[in-house]
Amino acid sequence: MAMITTEQSGSDVGADGRVPDALVAAYREHGFVRVRGVLDAGQVERFRAGAEAFLEAHRGESLEKQGTFSQLVNVWQRDQTLRELTFDARIGRIAEQLAGFSLRLWHDQMLVKEPHNNAATEFHQDRPYWPHTGDRLPLSAWIALVDVPPERGCMTFLPGTQDRAGLRPQDLHEEEDLFEADPSLRWIPRVTVPLRAGDCTFHSGYTGHMALPNRTGQARLAHVTIFMDEATRYSGAGHVVTDPLGLTVGDRLDSDAFPRPWA
Ligand code: SIN
Ligand code: NI
Repeated sequence: MAMITTEQSGSDVGADGRVPDALVAAYREHGFVRVRGVLDAGQVERFRAGAEAFLEAHRGESLEKQGTFSQLVNVWQRDQTLRELTFDARIGRIAEQLAGFSLRLWHDQMLVKEPHNNAATEFHQDRPYWPHTGDRLPLSAWIALVDVPPERGCMTFLPGTQDRAGLRPQDLHEEEDLFEADPSLRWIPRVTVPLRAGDCTFHSGYTGHMALPNRTGQARLAHVTIFMDEATRYSGAGHVVTDPLGLTVGDRLDSDAFPRPWA
């Protein structure tokens, strides 16, 4: 596949801030793509330190309590350094290049697999969790703030599954759940994508994916920026991000809570 190379360093981002057409084509064909070097070494250092400090102060507020990961949502609203990462214009513009239409921020999240967490994030799709309607394909940038080889919990994707809309939400603690929801997915070849610090993957909201356990002594620090179609409306389903906002079904998700700082 076009996105897999044996090179270990460098950046896929051109001087104009865009990625090559081949990577856009790979994203559209497979539903995910690796983009190397979206952050330079200085940014990695700064954002990693910011993430570590935020995690230290807020680990106890994780939405996930079963040890799969520490999950801290909408850090951009609470931490100036991490807000710079979520609002990074280069990443936002690459997301729009891949999507092919205008996007808004849905939410961000810090996802940390603690040292030796030994628990996989099991296969699931993201979009069924979200209270969205009237939208075209959303996508997430999963940004590695440390080197993430397979043994530290990198992502694995089911290529070509970005068209599998309509499945029920899947339990990411249950290894079999996605495959029970759609048994045909079980036989799709799986692609595991190690990342160097500063690299990211983009995956669509319907692309099946999992993350391996962290079997190392170093935390797996990932920052995920999730982008939605600018036209997305509220479906009325419950969600931690929209529950406090007093929305009515059908409202457009276009308030200041869902900015497009890269525009
Ligand atoms: C993980 O990083 O453990 C999971 C990420 C995702 O499900 O998008
Ligand atoms: Ni996911």
